Amino acid sequence: MKIIRVKDNKEAGEIVSDILLEEVKANSKVVLGLATGSSPISTYENIILKTKDQKIDWSGVTTFNLDEYKGLESDHIQSYRYFMNEKLFNHINILKENTYIPSGLINSDEEAKKYDKLIKEKGGIDLQLLGLGINGHVGFNEPGSDFEGLTSIVDLTKSTIEANSRFFENQDEVPTQAISMGLKSIMSTGKIVLIATGESKAEAVKHLVEGPISIEWPCSILLNHQNVTIVIDEGAAKLLK
Ligand code: GLP
Repeated sequence: MKIIRVKDNKEAGEIVSDILLEEVKANSKVVLGLATGSSPISTYENIILKTKDQKIDWSGVTTFNLDEYKGLESDHIQSYRYFMNEKLFNHINILKENTYIPSGLINSDEEAKKYDKLIKEKGGIDLQLLGLGINGHVGFNEPGSDFEGLTSIVDLTKSTIEANSRFFENQDEVPTQAISMGLKSIMSTGKIVLIATGESKAEAVKHLVEGPISIEWPCSILLNHQNVTIVIDEGAAKLLK
């Protein structure tokens, strides 16, 4: 696991945007896995600026997002589709039909699994961007979920609902379920870049870097992946040996 230490989330965005843009420059048909949450926002801001400056072409790129809230239509202001359009897709020349996000209207795991099939059909994800939940979740794979899991409907824990309520009017509006790529889906990607900043992530980062691999800290499975880079600030690194 490669660890890049940064001053803050702003610097993380500068570095991670370069990592993603190098992939796009090296392969105009690259398949990227993308994430939502506050952690990658500075990365997307930098991507937009650098794409304009360096005239980077996204027209051949395909993206797959990790997750979506169950029950939210794609035009719902809190949906991850809305987030991705606003924060990134509307500002670069990517073709919307090449941007995939699990549908929040999926009603069965059978239907959800088609997402993994689609990823395979598109050649697999070359690079997956990840954030990190306070409780160690990646995507929406909460503690206790299955290391062998593919895309499925998942229950959100109370702590995740609380943490994510900051984006909603009040806690009651936060969906209690989501559709998320599974840990196996995430482990099948070629390279992983994870951003974690702020002290609230310190305990999860400790489990991610030092193990042991345990489903109580889903992020710890990344210790078994061959190509992981984590970008962390001082707060997130606070509990590391
Ligand atoms: C959310 C998302 C995750 C994200 C995480 C951290 O619930 N489903 O993909 O990585 O929580 O969020 P943030 O970056 O806002 O701290």
